[in-house]
Amino acid sequence: MIDRLSLAGRRAIVTGAGAGIGRATATLFAAAGAHVLCVDRDPDAAAEAAAAIGGAAAVLDVSDRIAVKQLLGDFAADGVDILANIAGVASSGERIETMDRAAFDRIFAVNFKGTLHCIQAVLPAMIAARRGAIVNMVSSAIDLAIPTNASYSISKAAVAMLTKVLANEVGPDGIRVNAVAPGFVPTALSMEAAGAGAADRAAYLDRWSKSAPLGRVGSPEDIAQQCLYLASDAARFVTGQVLRANGGTTMPW
Ligand SMILES: NC(=O)c1ccc[n+]([C@@H]2O[C@H](COP(=O)([O-])OP(=O)(O)OC[C@H]3O[C@@H](n4cnc5c(N)ncnc54)[C@H](O)[C@@H]3O)[C@@H](O)[C@H]2O)c1
Repeated sequence: MIDRLSLAGRRAIVTGAGAGIGRATATLFAAAGAHVLCVDRDPDAAAEAAAAIGGAAAVLDVSDRIAVKQLLGDFAADGVDILANIAGVASSGERIETMDRAAFDRIFAVNFKGTLHCIQAVLPAMIAARRGAIVNMVSSAIDLAIPTNASYSISKAAVAMLTKVLANEVGPDGIRVNAVAPGFVPTALSMEAAGAGAADRAAYLDRWSKSAPLGRVGSPEDIAQQCLYLASDAARFVTGQVLRANGGTTMPW
């Protein structure tokens, strides 16, 4: 039964694989037996991640629809079992009243459209094979509605709805679509968005830790474990769900 977490023989795409949660997920997928295409806009990070796990690298900005279709379509032509959409960018310090249109567009282009582009690039191959698992990355922000973080929160809520609509559309084709909503995980993205400099870093992390019944912030590996579960046959009866991995910070129905 434990073998259902195995990804032996599976071909997986992980976006944002160059750092943080994406890197941890690519590493765990490879450890579970998958051949992983490590996608990142940062060429060095993509190459380093791929070399560390014996996978392949693709340098790609997921907001570039044409490039995504080409590169991921090429990979998918040889078969693709798993797509983990983890690349993302954050907003902070904005108020809706004075929201900067260009900044909003950029967040949406990466977080929402980037996820959509990658899905559209692999779906034809998954539908033809009548199998596949897609894992999208959202955030506790979809529940918390954090003030001054509207672009990010709205983009992630849109990805959560994309997850559910797509699950309904392609369930009959044998494809499962789920999302992970992490709580706070200290990474380049989250610490930069928080604007927390070295001096107040400890106090900032302490506040997030105290917001969780489990009393700590997450690690990239904590989130990678959820991606592995949802990508694997252990979740073969699970689709259209948002799995909240946040130490209990939010507990919606
Ligand atoms: N860290 C957190 O607290 C947290 C919480 C909830 C959700 N998330 C989500 O998890 C995901 C990963 O975040 P992280 O904290 O590991 O960030 P990170 O900054 O550590 O890593 C993000 C990676 O994505 C890559 N990337 C960014 N934009 C890209 C693009 N347009 N095309 C291709 N690659 C791109 C970056 O180069 C980087 O390697 C994001 O979607 C983020 O919104 C993070």
